Amino acid sequence: MSNLIKLPGLIDPHVHLREPGATQKEDFITGTKAAIAGGYTTVLDMPNNPIPTVTQQALEEKIKLATGKVYSDIGFHFGASRESIQYFKQVEDKVFGLKLYMNHTTGELLIEDATVLEEIFSEWTKGKPILVHAEADTLAKAISLAKKYGNKLHVCHVSLKAEIDMIRAAKSEGLDITCEVTCHHLFLTEEDQQRLGPFGIMRPPLSSKEDQSALWYGIEEGVVDMIGSDHAPHTKDEKLSEKVPNGVPGLETTLPLLLTAVDDGRLTLDKLIELTYTNPKRVFNIPDQQDTFVEVDLDEPYTINNKLYTKCGWTPFAGMEATGRIKKVVLRGQLVFDGQNIFGPYGQVMV
Ligand code: NCD
Ligand code: ZN
Ligand code: ZN
Ligand code: ZN
Repeated sequence: MSNLIKLPGLIDPHVHLREPGATQKEDFITGTKAAIAGGYTTVLDMPNNPIPTVTQQALEEKIKLATGKVYSDIGFHFGASRESIQYFKQVEDKVFGLKLYMNHTTGELLIEDATVLEEIFSEWTKGKPILVHAEADTLAKAISLAKKYGNKLHVCHVSLKAEIDMIRAAKSEGLDITCEVTCHHLFLTEEDQQRLGPFGIMRPPLSSKEDQSALWYGIEEGVVDMIGSDHAPHTKDEKLSEKVPNGVPGLETTLPLLLTAVDDGRLTLDKLIELTYTNPKRVFNIPDQQDTFVEVDLDEPYTINNKLYTKCGWTPFAGMEATGRIKKVVLRGQLVFDGQNIFGPYGQVMV
């Protein structure tokens, strides 16, 4: 028996669609098709392209490239760098947040210089979040800067109990801080690393069972505000090469895994909607989409496989049993996914 329900069109605050510059991994067409097939009608794209989105020109170029091509709605985050500070005022109305890399990961956007960090927190608008890639000790630094300058701070892909503890403490101090967790950190641990090899390598790395429990507890107690897929595709060849790039795709597996958690009694549907719609909508001030919904069959069981819309063509979750299947996606009254086929492009670039 099927058990059909409707969810809102989901919002993913953290994706890497790789255009321009790394379209062998993904592009705006394949990336937003993957979003739609995964129940996401809105995605926010990160700035760590080979030529990073750190100038007004690079941002305008991205907007132009995406226009007319996207299957889901898309918005952008601007990149923080020494050079990008001069453009903050010009771009703040066109983006949803400022992304700041405080640890090594894919791309060249790492900022370690203390003076530049101070300037970034001081100059960025207090009205939109600074999203940080800040693991462990660097998270403490990010929190103290946000406190000093009064910024909205959003912590990306939290993976450790120690980070959850810091965020809980900052929230209870009254700081304007939010955070996200990914499904790879919720559903995989360092034990899966063996089996997955390079396909289980990402930043932050898969953590321990104890850290993983802290993330689930963080969801339950409300310290975790949202789920971000951190959809970070790389080709199979790149993953199998000497210098393994960090990152795994996630757009098409996030909702199925969360629905499976609902089926298992680890998550309520209300909580799922908060994490994937209500909270990202509020924190990033995402516009409404009229007549937009995702229909899922809560009871349909299946095995996650590599038959996906993402250009990279693999997922670290292949072989996992899921319960809860995406049957239909409607965007502004148009059928955009029927459970098999994608229709469009009907997406808009949000500026
Ligand atoms: C991301 C990527 O490949 O762009 N990789 C990752 O391992 N998460 C960058 C990032 O989000 O840190
Ligand atoms: Zn990151
Ligand atoms: Zn990322
Ligand atoms: Zn069931």
